[in-house]
Amino acid sequence: MFTELLAVLVIAILSWAYNFIKPPASSVCGSPGGPPITSSRIKLKDGRHLAYRESGVPKQKAKYKIVLVHGFNCSKGEPGDDPLGSQELAEELGICFVSFDRAGYGESDPNPKRTVKSESMDVDELAEQLELGPKFYVIGGSMGAYTAYSCLKYIPHRLLGVALVVPAVNYWWPSLPDNLAKSMLKKLDIGDRMAFWVAHNFPILFHVWMKQKFFKPSPTMTGQWSVETSSESDLEIMEQKINSPAHRSDEYKRKTTQQGVYESLYRDVMVVFSNWEFDPMQIENPFPNNEGSVHLWAGREDRICQVEIQRYVAKMLPWIKYHENPHGGHLFCAIGDWNDRIIKALLLGEDPEYM
Ligand SMILES: *[C@@H]1O[C@H](CO)[C@@H](O)[C@H](O)[C@H]1NC(C)=O
Repeated sequence: MFTELLAVLVIAILSWAYNFIKPPASSVCGSPGGPPITSSRIKLKDGRHLAYRESGVPKQKAKYKIVLVHGFNCSKGEPGDDPLGSQELAEELGICFVSFDRAGYGESDPNPKRTVKSESMDVDELAEQLELGPKFYVIGGSMGAYTAYSCLKYIPHRLLGVALVVPAVNYWWPSLPDNLAKSMLKKLDIGDRMAFWVAHNFPILFHVWMKQKFFKPSPTMTGQWSVETSSESDLEIMEQKINSPAHRSDEYKRKTTQQGVYESLYRDVMVVFSNWEFDPMQIENPFPNNEGSVHLWAGREDRICQVEIQRYVAKMLPWIKYHENPHGGHLFCAIGDWNDRIIKALLLGEDPEYM
């Protein structure tokens, strides 16, 4: 009798624990009750779909093909949304932009096996199926830069050039000196610091952490930009973006995390702060004969991807062309013609002036 009771108790506790830890289900596009599929998609080898969008000039006519990798809480955009560079520049230089929803975002199927490596495999297959040719350019912004680092590591033979724009940093990169990582972590808001720590050490419990109400929530993970977490210039840009209806359509905002925040936002944070399959500071120069270039763009006032770490990465990878905007924060590219300047530096080697 006692043994049976104990067994029942153990099973009850285990199933409660299982339900507690089990990640929330996603509402997958095209599944019964899930959001509709409205974008062009390719089917990957593992059966997942990847939604993409082409803009700029048609790829048959394009001289340059650039794969754009979006950041945290963003997506490939909708027809009519601003592409990364201006349409004028695309026409002037002959650029076809290919953007895609990273796994779990927008209309791309979630990838519960998502890793830093799997992201570059997705880019490789996308370029293959869209027939972008043997080589192409990659621009990865913010969180999307981990995909770009992954491309540098795993598919350097397919690259003509790469721009890492205010790239995401991982405080647990092996080559990052302990004292630098610690001092940069200390500069973060306590809510972010705790959430990132959980994402790194106990990713399986990350969504449980995001639900808890005892400790301060992570401002980054909840979209709470404030003077505690952002530079003045970033807050001003946020204000302008919110007030400018043209920048992003409502459709874009609605669709970004329509399949659930777990496989989009949470998975992103779990992957970026995981133990990567490689150390980015050990990546070999993909262009030993200068046949292409790799750029890293940093904003000195960036309080999300701190400039001290970007400088260290640039020092460790001397083949990277390092650009630092002395007046910019994390969002400096969102205003003026910064995107065009970044593209021109990548394609034509033009160095911009800092005003
Ligand atoms: C994501 O973007 C939406 C719409 O722009 C916003 O309402 C939300 O707060 C953002 N979430 C995060 C975590 O930044």
